[in-house]
Amino acid sequence: MAGSTTDYVAMTSNYTDLTKGAQKVIEASVPLADKHLADNGFFQGQQPATFLDLGAADGGTAVPLWRALLTKFRENSAERPATLVSNDLPGADFNTLFRVYETGEADSLRQRFAPFYVLGNGTPFFQQAVENGSIDFSYSATAMHWLSSAPAKMKDHVHQVESQDACVAEFRDLANQNWSSILKARWAELKPGGIFFAVNFCVSTDNTYLGKTTGKSMFSTFSEIWKSVASEQEFVDTNFPQYYRSKEELETGAAQLGFEVLDHQIVQTNCPYKERFLNGDWTSAEYAENFLPTMTTWSTAVFKSGLRQDRSEDDKTKMINELWGTYKKLIENDPESYQMDYVHSFLVLRKPSGA
Ligand SMILES: C[S@@+](CC[C@H](N)C(=O)[O-])C[C@H]1O[C@@H](n2cnc3c(N)ncnc32)[C@H](O)[C@@H]1O
Repeated sequence: MAGSTTDYVAMTSNYTDLTKGAQKVIEASVPLADKHLADNGFFQGQQPATFLDLGAADGGTAVPLWRALLTKFRENSAERPATLVSNDLPGADFNTLFRVYETGEADSLRQRFAPFYVLGNGTPFFQQAVENGSIDFSYSATAMHWLSSAPAKMKDHVHQVESQDACVAEFRDLANQNWSSILKARWAELKPGGIFFAVNFCVSTDNTYLGKTTGKSMFSTFSEIWKSVASEQEFVDTNFPQYYRSKEELETGAAQLGFEVLDHQIVQTNCPYKERFLNGDWTSAEYAENFLPTMTTWSTAVFKSGLRQDRSEDDKTKMINELWGTYKKLIENDPESYQMDYVHSFLVLRKPSGA
């Protein structure tokens, strides 16, 4: 089994282009970020402000959030300095991040909102990324379901969210430990009164989650196809190092540390690719072609990590192609049954002013 998640979890390049759904989720979170920052008196402040975006990939999907917040910020003060620290794992596409914020020269986001400084940071978010008491607003979208490792091997499934294996308890324990480390690090980084807005995949009280809202479940489909492509041992060795927490698990962990829970909502964001198919923009073949990459970007490395080390790269590539080729055919033949709707917890936390 692969070791630390840090070794092999990184989105492929062109992350932003391939993940329209993730951007939609961030857009849906903007009003809540705006409301709680405004209620907290943030926009009226005079001191330099620092934002932290954890697990930001190439930063592109979060542009609508930072643009909205910085526009309001500048309406209140033309001179107040603002810094954005964009965080991800060391292997992330930081080149694109810097291009996103610099492109357009005088019209770049950095220039438009000057004095605005953009920094990259590659510290895994289980640890503190910046110094104590330095952050006004910490944010993370669709990233903290990644665990520090896969703690066990599930015999019946590739993902904990549908596995009946007893070892799922080990995933739960590690998820609790990881969430606690994440929260402790955010607590230390925040200024008193600062906000941490966590937008995380979750399991809703109706037992919906990513790719399982209606029709076929995405993770069931992954598991069924992979069972027919990989050997028995390789199937057991393929384990997503992820955990989809419940609303209660997310909230309890935060309250235990002393965070105030300002807001907590479960939000479903419908698959934008399925919407285009349903609107009649695409045939089923076009739908399958356009939809597939939004699943492959984050999962191909996990499937590959379960394969025997002594297989040739060619062999591994063939098996991965078979997985995605089969999935594509299923979508083409029955497009109504397949989609990747998102189910998120929008959790807004505040470090109390006196802390
Ligand atoms: C699905 S992408 C989300 C990107 C962006 N926040 C969005 O919502 O579109 C998840 C990101 O989390 C990053 N990630 C996973 N584990 C991480 C860790 N321990 N520390 C920092 N980033 C991590 C991955 O590398 C990936 O870029």
